[in-house]
Amino acid sequence: MSFSLKGLFTKKVSTKEEPSGEVPRHVAIIMDGNGRWAAHRGLPRTAGHHAGMVALRRTIRSANDLGIAVLTVYAFSTENWNRPSREVDFLMRLPNEFLRTDLPELIEKNVRVTMSGFREGLPKHTKDAIDDAISKTATNTGMVLNFALNYGSRAEIVKAVREIAEEVSQKQLTFDEIDEVTVSQHLYTAGLPDPDLLIRPSGEIRLSNFLLWQLAYAELCFIDVYWPDFKHEHLVAAIEVYCKRDRRFGGIKL
Ligand code: IPE
Ligand code: IPE
Ligand code: MG
Repeated sequence: MSFSLKGLFTKKVSTKEEPSGEVPRHVAIIMDGNGRWAAHRGLPRTAGHHAGMVALRRTIRSANDLGIAVLTVYAFSTENWNRPSREVDFLMRLPNEFLRTDLPELIEKNVRVTMSGFREGLPKHTKDAIDDAISKTATNTGMVLNFALNYGSRAEIVKAVREIAEEVSQKQLTFDEIDEVTVSQHLYTAGLPDPDLLIRPSGEIRLSNFLLWQLAYAELCFIDVYWPDFKHEHLVAAIEVYCKRDRRFGGIKL
């Protein structure tokens, strides 16, 4: 029996500046492959993370130019603490570095910065940099740039369950009132639409504990480049693939 894996990776890079169809409202990206990008060049992993930051800057500009309403980027997972402390320290300084240089441009472009993840676990300097960006952009009405930082989907769901249980025990909510909206409202992404398109560069085909609830009906697009090499044409290519997908949400096409 033969089978085909055609379509698993998006291979064709678009030469177009803009996709031909309607852009997804919410795009989520797992920014993966920094370490391998660096290893291929004989560089330390931290050099890959730095290059990943440059790719993020590029991608924010592209997403904003394309009219994407929400861009969620997975920057650090709850499992990434298991890495060597030197690498973790470097990663925890990146938001400061990025926002020091790029916050003025984000403000100028009317971008609103938000964060999804466990703030408590972050070092103070990281928290301060993120909080500063969140407060300085809080009233902006343009693209939402949502940093998934110290984020893990399972831990997020546990947090939601605990909060809901607490509300029930405090009689602020009845058992029967708990529905999907209740759960969504207790996730870090409360108030944001679910992602329409998930992009994972680097060649890995897994979710790595990212937005497990929110991605229920997202279109998944895996791209065979490392994150530091991700460019406008990859984003456009992913959106082109998305536009060709037939989203049915469990229904049928009439
Ligand atoms: C993504 O790149 C950045 C983070 C997870 C923080 P990696 O560091 O995972 O790079 P690879 O996957 O090892 O190449
Ligand atoms: C996912 O990538 C987390 C981020 C990109 C921030 P990982 O590199 O941590 O995922 P695994 O270990 O390959 O599943
Ligand atoms: Mg990785």
